[in-house]
Amino acid sequence: MSQSRLPLRIAILFSGRGSNLQSLAAYIAGEEVPAELALALSNRPDAGGLAFCAAHNIPAQVIDHKQFEQRADFDAALHQQLTNAGIDLVCCAGFMRLLTADFVSQWHDRLLNIHPSLLPAYKGLNTHQRALDDGASEHGCSVHFMRPEMDDGPVIVQRKVPVLADDTADTLAARVLQQEHIAYPEALDIVLKKMAGTAEQTRQI
Ligand code: GRF
Repeated sequence: MSQSRLPLRIAILFSGRGSNLQSLAAYIAGEEVPAELALALSNRPDAGGLAFCAAHNIPAQVIDHKQFEQRADFDAALHQQLTNAGIDLVCCAGFMRLLTADFVSQWHDRLLNIHPSLLPAYKGLNTHQRALDDGASEHGCSVHFMRPEMDDGPVIVQRKVPVLADDTADTLAARVLQQEHIAYPEALDIVLKKMAGTAEQTRQI
C-alpha cells in the first residue's frame, strides 16, 4: 500500500439525502484539518446528496450498482475509482450497500462507517423501531472502523440519546441523527490526527 501524504485525501460514500456527508464536508473544510474532500461517490444516481455536492463544488461521481450483475464487480469498480483518485481514507455515510469481505480487507483501517445504534446492539436495519420495541432507555449512534462482518469493527466514537416515553421511530431517528452529525466529525478528527502524524513522520525520514 502506498504511503499517505498530506493533505490526506478523503472519499465519502453515500446513497441518499446525505446529511452526514454535509456534516463531514463542513468539518473537512475547517482550518487546520489535514485533509481534503477529494471525492463524494454515490451508488444511486438519484441520491439527494448529489445536489449538495454540485452546489458546493465537491467532486462527485455515481457508480450505479444496478449496472453490475455481481456484488464483487461493483466493489471492484469502486476500489478502482478510489485508487484512481488517490484516496487515503473512505467514510461510508448512509451508504446502503453491503461491501464484500475482499473490498473491506483492501481498505483495512482506512474505511469508516456510521451506524444508528449503540453497537454492538441493533446491527442491520430498523434500529430505532427495534430499540423502541425492546423498551430500551437509551439509544444512539456509533462510528466504527469497518470489518467484513456487517456493522462490525472497532468503535471510534459513540453518542447516546435518551429514549422518551412518547417517542416514535421517527422522533427517535431525528434525535439520533443530530448526534450523528456531531459523532462523525469527532471520529474523523481522531482518525485523521493519527494518520496525519504517521504521514508527517514518514515525510521526515
Ligand atoms: C443515517 O442515519 C445513517 O446512520 C444511516 O442512514 C442514515 C443516512 O442519513 N446508515 P444521511 O443520508 O446521512 O442523511
